[in-house]
Amino acid sequence: MATPKALVAGNWKMNGVTENLVEIEKLNDLLGQGAPGCDVLICPPFTLIHQSMQVAGDHVEIGAQDCHANIAGAHTGDISAAMLTDQGCKYVIVAHSERRTDHGETNEMVRGKADAAQKEGLTAIICVGETEAERDAGDALPVVTSQVRESIPAEAVVANTVVAYEPVWAIGTGRTPTTADVAEVHAAVREVLIERFGTEGANVRILYGGSVKPENARELMSVDNVNGALVGGASLKADSFYGIIQAYD
Ligand code: PGA
Repeated sequence: MATPKALVAGNWKMNGVTENLVEIEKLNDLLGQGAPGCDVLICPPFTLIHQSMQVAGDHVEIGAQDCHANIAGAHTGDISAAMLTDQGCKYVIVAHSERRTDHGETNEMVRGKADAAQKEGLTAIICVGETEAERDAGDALPVVTSQVRESIPAEAVVANTVVAYEPVWAIGTGRTPTTADVAEVHAAVREVLIERFGTEGANVRILYGGSVKPENARELMSVDNVNGALVGGASLKADSFYGIIQAYD
């Protein structure tokens, strides 16, 4: 499969109630002014997925922020990949660092979730990234490449896999790595993807995430092997998210 369009994905995290749906509606209107040069996705909380689908229009895809590794069963409070496809989702984020931290998710658990998502026909956005202590110790590359080796299921192809490199210390902090550091990590991720998945690995999208804003998006998105962005805070408002998407004008 050839290289797909870049992907700019918004992760609303545990933010958003009904009144915030207006931002998705507004985003769709803004995108309607001219076809964006990238795919656009919003991952609202589970409670807003259904209503988001109603207002997303033609230009915004709706996805989810997590799924369970099993398709159904006695797992109170969890959501399965089958439930997400049932709601019309095409994407699900797995392995966000907040889930790795808050819920102790390991690479093996993440691989199980991604596998369940892919088997249900979803594209799994699989997050990787080093902590500040790991970067300071000079371990960013080994940490990230081992996450890529261990978190991505063996059947990964372009159509069902996106990788998001999110340095943990850059998430929600306003700090970003230098473009040289982003280039270095993305090149290392690409190398592992090619080694594991051949030409599919050469075309899997690798997103950068962590304090992406309209002001830095163009520079970050122009780095080699950066095929889009995963955006937290700046995705909550249509105007700022649209400002990031415009990096792909
Ligand atoms: P941020 O979050 O854009 O608010 O830094 C990114 C993310 O966690 O996906």
